[in-house]
Amino acid sequence: MAKAAKLFIKTYGCQMNVYDSERMAEALGADGYVTTEVIEDADMVLINTCHIREKASEKLFSDLGRLKPLKAAKPDLKIGVAGCVAQAEGAEILRRMPLVDLVVGPQSYHRLPAMARAAGHGVTRIDTEFPPEDKFDHLPARTALRGPSAYLTVQEGCDKFCAFCVVPYTRGAEVSRPPARLLAEARALVARGVREITLLGQNVNAYRCTDDSGVWGLARLIRELAGTPGLARLRYMTSHPNDMEDDLIAAHGDCPQLMPYLHLPVQSGSDRILRAMNRKHSAADYRAVVARIRAARPDILLTSDFIVGFPGETEADFAATLALIREVGFGMAYSFKYSARPGTPAAEKPAVDAAEADARLQTLQALITRQQRAAQGSMVGREVSVLYEKAGRLPGQMVGKSDHLHAVHVTDPLGRVGELARVRITASSSNSLAGTRLPDA
Ligand code: 5AD
Ligand code: SF4
Repeated sequence: MAKAAKLFIKTYGCQMNVYDSERMAEALGADGYVTTEVIEDADMVLINTCHIREKASEKLFSDLGRLKPLKAAKPDLKIGVAGCVAQAEGAEILRRMPLVDLVVGPQSYHRLPAMARAAGHGVTRIDTEFPPEDKFDHLPARTALRGPSAYLTVQEGCDKFCAFCVVPYTRGAEVSRPPARLLAEARALVARGVREITLLGQNVNAYRCTDDSGVWGLARLIRELAGTPGLARLRYMTSHPNDMEDDLIAAHGDCPQLMPYLHLPVQSGSDRILRAMNRKHSAADYRAVVARIRAARPDILLTSDFIVGFPGETEADFAATLALIREVGFGMAYSFKYSARPGTPAAEKPAVDAAEADARLQTLQALITRQQRAAQGSMVGREVSVLYEKAGRLPGQMVGKSDHLHAVHVTDPLGRVGELARVRITASSSNSLAGTRLPDA
């Protein structure tokens, strides 16, 4: 029997890229590829890229540079670039990096195996179209699952056009996948041992699909998925504040499978900056949405994204962001220094002084870290449920996530992966909680 070809995938960026990488591995798996963690063993190296900030595409070019000796030693090695940098800069990648054999944009992954077969030995392949068919329909069933928690992409693309963001250009317009397919995919995941599904989309709460039974929004999809026997937990990300509709907020109050966690990026607390960002909501709108969500689910843990140093941001604007953070209280947040992306409206505007932006980022991150510690600390003494994802490093220890998505190390010599355990939290360290197993209720 011929030796299986080996595939090494490196993934940058968001959860959607993580999901896409798994699906690409499965597609190539049907063609005989098995994945490897050892790049030197690979017959094909795939880099799944992210274009959201500048550093991401720089990283791609440095990765490709470092692959040169490997390719020289192994001329049959195929090198592919996938993801949003492939979409945005495909031709440029092939021009600058002749060692690349194929370039594939996020909407064309179902064509990857055929491209891989055709590429190599100086023949390059590029596919950055937005084909009308749904790539997921043409990909094989899920096989590369890791643990009891899985992602499910329900929506892709974005119609919001925030002034700083490349996503509407690289991922294209909002497209929602049909509910019947998603329900079937969820059942298949549960049959493979999955107990928690995180619904993914660049604008997941803009999910909208119409079938014979009428209109489906995200709330209806969640309620329907919650009926899947064996599925214990649901989450979704990433959401836009303007799409938090009443029925979705209500689901946070009355759907027990929907976890008390919501990633709801606000980006800035200054109305002037929010307007310049084309966010189409004010800071007060955001506070009002948060109040409605907390009325439905008082213990919900909120997280956010922030951009500091957006063109035109003054000290007063930044102070408004800090004020909003203090008032809302976040369990965690991602914060970024603004990075000008070519082709986006904000890229034309004069930048904030880099040292100033760095200082603001540090201030904001220090505040968020304090809030994160406080949120974690407040769990000590409480009883939570933990979904075990793997064995811990210490003997007799399991590691999993709580309802609020805190990582928890649990002393439980009899624990099994995939188990939903009742746990008493006993301590909080910088990035995780510790606890002990309680008898099942
Ligand atoms: N510069 C900095 N951060 C950005 N993000 C998106 N585009 C940019 C940019 N040009 C951040 C936003 C978004 C997150 C995924 O990345 O905060 O919510
Ligand atoms: Fe980008 Fe804004 Fe769309 Fe989010 S909502 S993907 S930040 S354009």
